[in-house]
Amino acid sequence: MLSRNIYEKTSKLLKKHDQEQILAFWDKLDSDQKNRLLSQIEQLDFTKIDNWVTNFVKKAPYASINADFEPVGFYKPEPENAEQQKKYDNAVKLGKKLISQGKAAAFVVAGGQGTRLGFDGPKGNFPISPVRKKTLFRIFAENISAASEKYKAVCPWYIMTSPLNYDQTVEIFRSNNYYGLEKENIFIFQQGTLPNFSPEGKILLADKSEIACSPDGHGGCIRALHKSGALEDMKKRGVEFISYWQVDNPLINIFDPLFIGLHAHDKAEMSSKALRKNDPKEKIGNFCLIDGKVTIIEYSDLPDEFAAKRNPDNSLVFELGSIAIHIINRVFLEKFISEDTSLPLHSAVKKIRYIDQTGRKVESQGIKLESFIFDAVPLASNSIVLETIRSEEFAPTKNATGVDSAESTRQMITDRAASWLEYAGVKIPRKHDGSVDCSIEIAPSFALEKDDLKAKLSKIPPIKPGAKIYLE
Ligand code: UTP
Repeated sequence: MLSRNIYEKTSKLLKKHDQEQILAFWDKLDSDQKNRLLSQIEQLDFTKIDNWVTNFVKKAPYASINADFEPVGFYKPEPENAEQQKKYDNAVKLGKKLISQGKAAAFVVAGGQGTRLGFDGPKGNFPISPVRKKTLFRIFAENISAASEKYKAVCPWYIMTSPLNYDQTVEIFRSNNYYGLEKENIFIFQQGTLPNFSPEGKILLADKSEIACSPDGHGGCIRALHKSGALEDMKKRGVEFISYWQVDNPLINIFDPLFIGLHAHDKAEMSSKALRKNDPKEKIGNFCLIDGKVTIIEYSDLPDEFAAKRNPDNSLVFELGSIAIHIINRVFLEKFISEDTSLPLHSAVKKIRYIDQTGRKVESQGIKLESFIFDAVPLASNSIVLETIRSEEFAPTKNATGVDSAESTRQMITDRAASWLEYAGVKIPRKHDGSVDCSIEIAPSFALEKDDLKAKLSKIPPIKPGAKIYLE
């Protein structure tokens, strides 16, 4: 039996922080439910919560950006002169060596709710490839397996889920026999959650004995990597470089020797890939230099006059957008833990399911708090930016149809395969408007990059208009 004492102590604490509504249904709960609610309350840090309510929940979100910012320096996709060519060649060599030595790990964040795609289950299980309908998880697994083979190295894979999709994700990997990878080289773990708030700053209840919570954003990965033991596991394995990407991008080049090599050569702590924006307000983060630090500013926070600023040759001054691909040093993340550094929070008004004070289930607007991994970039002692080509590395599967959808991603998988094959000298059928007139999928075991195709030409059949081609 829970003593009246505990109730009174908790009630006093909640009153002090203006959150006594959490116990509104206390008298109606059985002792298991009471224990459950109390243990959730115990995990909340009310001093932090007071601060969040004042600064993120009640205030309209705004960006406290120092207006004094400049464009960032960056590496182009291809070297621009002989000296750079030498640097890129050396970087590739270094990157390959580091991967072969087992110093690089794969890390995908897959804890999102994927509401826009509207798919039932973890997004990683979404069938995306145009011919074989491989899921996102399978494509990544095959990439990792091919890299492991190519570099004769163990390439461990860390997968962040949320408490909402952890069990399902574990079961998907189990029932797919870990996609042929060694189970001990796959580490699936859960990120934390943060409470949901009413616009007035009250913590909402999902049920009479349960606080309404949401995953704490991809920035939550730093604490989650630590708490789950993943950072420790990396340390034991000798992993120094973490290749970070998002679960919805099947074009990711997970173990990119050039990116890893440039990052290591320049002694960077956290680096990013970037691409040229399609238009000034494209909905991706913007690279800027603030107080000498590479910083990624959300598209909604970049003032219009900066977004629209052009160079004399008409190119955008702030032309580089972030595609959420990073190399992060393990030691850099360990410092967040040892120095107790937190990333800032961002708030978003979202539809939330909760119960009101009469116990009625409602779905209404509330506030979700999240942290973003890109806020770690300016905290790095050094950070490089490598420009990449959109059609080579970025096909975000965000929506069911239209822009950044499953449909556009499938087309991009075919388009990239076609351009790699043409580069290798294979004839690809194209329509009058120049678009590819077939569906093509290249298994990572067949080619991880376009140069791998040259040795495989004899295995590639002639490709007819309308064909569905799978190369493995
Ligand atoms: P998105 O911002 O696209 O969010 O996540 P989402 O939840 O997947 O999709 P919507 O907005 O509900 O439609 C970008 C990446 O960050 C991961 C996602 O899984 C995706 O890989 N993510 C996002 C997390 O791992 N945890 C989070 O709390 C949020």
